[in-house]
Amino acid sequence: MAFPITRLRRLRQTEPLRSLVRETRLSPESFIYPLFVCPGEGVRKAVGSMPGVSNLSVDQTVQEAREAYSLGVPGVILFGLPEKKDEVATGAWAEDGIVQRAARALKKEVPGLVVIADVCLCEYMSHGHCGIVKAAGSDYEILNDPTLEILARTAVSQARAGVDIIAPSDMMDGRVGAIRRALDAAGFANTPILSYAAKFASGFYGPFREAADSAPQFGDRRSYQMDGANLREAMREIELDIEEGADMIMVKPALPYLDVIAAARERFDLPLSAYQVSGEYAMIEAAARNGWIERERVILESLLSIRRAGASLILTYYAKEAARLLG
Ligand code: PBG
Repeated sequence: MAFPITRLRRLRQTEPLRSLVRETRLSPESFIYPLFVCPGEGVRKAVGSMPGVSNLSVDQTVQEAREAYSLGVPGVILFGLPEKKDEVATGAWAEDGIVQRAARALKKEVPGLVVIADVCLCEYMSHGHCGIVKAAGSDYEILNDPTLEILARTAVSQARAGVDIIAPSDMMDGRVGAIRRALDAAGFANTPILSYAAKFASGFYGPFREAADSAPQFGDRRSYQMDGANLREAMREIELDIEEGADMIMVKPALPYLDVIAAARERFDLPLSAYQVSGEYAMIEAAARNGWIERERVILESLLSIRRAGASLILTYYAKEAARLLG
């Protein structure tokens, strides 16, 4: 051999050696488990496009959360399927709304569990948009500022129900500031905000919209969620949310936006989370069902890559299972 070979393979020979030099580690304490709460009792309604994920009534939500918690998963994030939808998202901010009821039960039944609530209106609006819609003939507009008030009201009612962290995902401008002011005014100055700061308009949300019954009935979300082409704009979104009072930030989806996670980690010092969304989950499940990938291996590899990119917390439908695999 004419040239000297640098032997990186020396440290790859055995698992103990590989483990010794491993740069990134995955552990259940970085997982947040998303749960879809629905009306009724004893209900576990499977979501077709997300095998293994179900809509859960409050009692089942408690059971599922307890199980995850006992495996070392520190927190859950709640999404609600209300009894009724309307044009002002009543179900989102009602004191006895589905998420509010679930939060009360969880705080009582699983002490220590961090309860996060998603703040958005799409699940509660008859039209499935994340804000108030002003229709004008065949045209429509999603109204920004009037929506802020409903989002703020939702956040306050969730805090009242005992929610530990408020997580706005609507992507209206100014919502973090509006929610912060409302929480402070209502006596919840100590309730943190986890902002879905860089949330992209993504095809990967498809299965979630089945799970949360929240697909827009017309149009799409491109006038409020971000264009997938824009990294610099993502930094600006995050920066503004921090200025408005966000305590934690999120990038979403995760795997197709690892560069955004890495850039956010480089630039901002707040706790950074990433959401492995429904479509990322569904892809793994579908390929595994076909025998095309090794399911458990790919689950852990995808989660590890999100951590390596720089996210300290991962919202993942695999939280419970990955915790078990790691345990
Ligand atoms: C609400 C919301 C969505 C998701 C989280 N919060 C759907 C959307 O924006 O359409 C998606 C999560 C997932 O796909 O797992 N706006």
